[in-house]
Amino acid sequence: MANRIVIVSNRVAPVNEGKAAAGGLAVAVLAALRRSGGVWFGWSGEVVAAPDEAANVTESGRLARATVDLSERDHEEYYNRFANATLWPLFHYRVDLVNFDRVNYAGYRRVNRAFARKLAGLLQPDDLIWVHDYHLIPLGEELRRLGVGNRIGLFLHIPLPPRELLATLPVHKELMRCFSHFDLVGFQTETDRAHLLDYLVREAKARVEEHEGGAVVRAHRRVFKVEAHPIGIDTPYVERSAARAESSRDFQRLHVSLADRRLIIGVDRLDYSKGLVHRFDAFAHFLRAYPQHLNRVSLMQIAPPSRGGIAEYSEIRRTLETLAGHVNGEFAEVDWVPIRYLNRSFGRRTLFGFLRQAQVGLITPLRDGMNLVAMEYLASQRPQDPGVLVLSRFAGAAETLPDALIVNPYDVEGVAKTIQAALTMPLEERRERWQSSMHVLRSNSVEAWYERFVARLSQA
Ligand code: ADP
Ligand code: F6P
Repeated sequence: MANRIVIVSNRVAPVNEGKAAAGGLAVAVLAALRRSGGVWFGWSGEVVAAPDEAANVTESGRLARATVDLSERDHEEYYNRFANATLWPLFHYRVDLVNFDRVNYAGYRRVNRAFARKLAGLLQPDDLIWVHDYHLIPLGEELRRLGVGNRIGLFLHIPLPPRELLATLPVHKELMRCFSHFDLVGFQTETDRAHLLDYLVREAKARVEEHEGGAVVRAHRRVFKVEAHPIGIDTPYVERSAARAESSRDFQRLHVSLADRRLIIGVDRLDYSKGLVHRFDAFAHFLRAYPQHLNRVSLMQIAPPSRGGIAEYSEIRRTLETLAGHVNGEFAEVDWVPIRYLNRSFGRRTLFGFLRQAQVGLITPLRDGMNLVAMEYLASQRPQDPGVLVLSRFAGAAETLPDALIVNPYDVEGVAKTIQAALTMPLEERRERWQSSMHVLRSNSVEAWYERFVARLSQA
């Protein structure tokens, strides 16, 4: 019999509500876990005065959801501070935004210890434990301390920066040593994988043997595997949903409002890593450089607010509001605004319907682990008349989707020029690029990613 899968992540998607939380991890894991069944353990999303010691377990079909609450202090030190104001900027190469404090690191370790304690009681001896993302890097070590001998894997959904950046973290040695308590460590890209190996060789005197498909690492008296397993999306589901969305009211509302104008779309959590300031600048530059598009093209940027408790996130929100106001003030006409800026979430089908109507998907993060929206944009297109994906070279997706138009998001003029190239690309070239990207998306769906990681973990 196959082993039971126990997924552990900070964010657990609302399984029964039909609407996944915005955020790549929740979207991807939910799509795969619904099929395989198993247990999903993590934070409930609730902050309470005194969290229960035991997890709250609810079952829905083959999937059990085991969640724990956080105290206000834990939420602040672990989630807002160390995970999202220290590791998040550092791992996205933004050393300038890193906020380090030993109190927050202690909080991060404390919550990982509590997660391990609460999870250990639910485990069976043959369970495969699969931990996700930067919130829970120490979880393997904490589980081992409690005597858990199961196979444990970690997948990092976000980038891992080079050694020289990692070394700026005062506790980098303690933190990086945690990777060795997993049996398998997975990354989105070869670049991220190489960064861990380089770090371990140079800072921890690791010995690395490269094998087909990955590396076997000996470090800190442990042996473990380090591999790249780029994530995918539920491609057939996105294709179907986007086609079905055509008859929906929201699809029609957008269609009517465009009145034959063309659409460029961006969809991102409101995060400084997504490059929205540069994107708005590039779009303004595009309108100045190619004035034939005035009143003919709009940029619709959907950006639901994220991590409101962190100053940098409130700041980026204010900056973007001002910038969108400036651009619209400069170019708007009585019957047209250049940037439609929406700070809200949409149902998945509605979102795919919007992506389907856009001639250009403008996905220009300054740094991104993978970027699922880039893939969703492609899978939402009409096969006979597909749009063009303009994609940042600094998104993990650029390694898997070389047929997108790859840009440097810091090069505002270059991006403007590429938008023009995308809008004027002949149908035949659009089809060729789209077909070859879709081949990648169909052969590496989220299900394939999931099964591959689980198979590698069970052999580890
Ligand atoms: P991240 O994990 O950094 O948020 P990704 O692009 O990898 O970035 O994943 C984001 C996921 O969240 C995608 O599946 C996307 O469709 C979804 N999403 C983003 N914005 C919205 C929104 N406004 N409404 C609904 N879903 C959203
Ligand atoms: O995919 C990257 C990621 O950081 C996930 O770990 C996270 O769940 C998601 O983005 C959204 O962020 P948050 O959980 O902080 O709302």
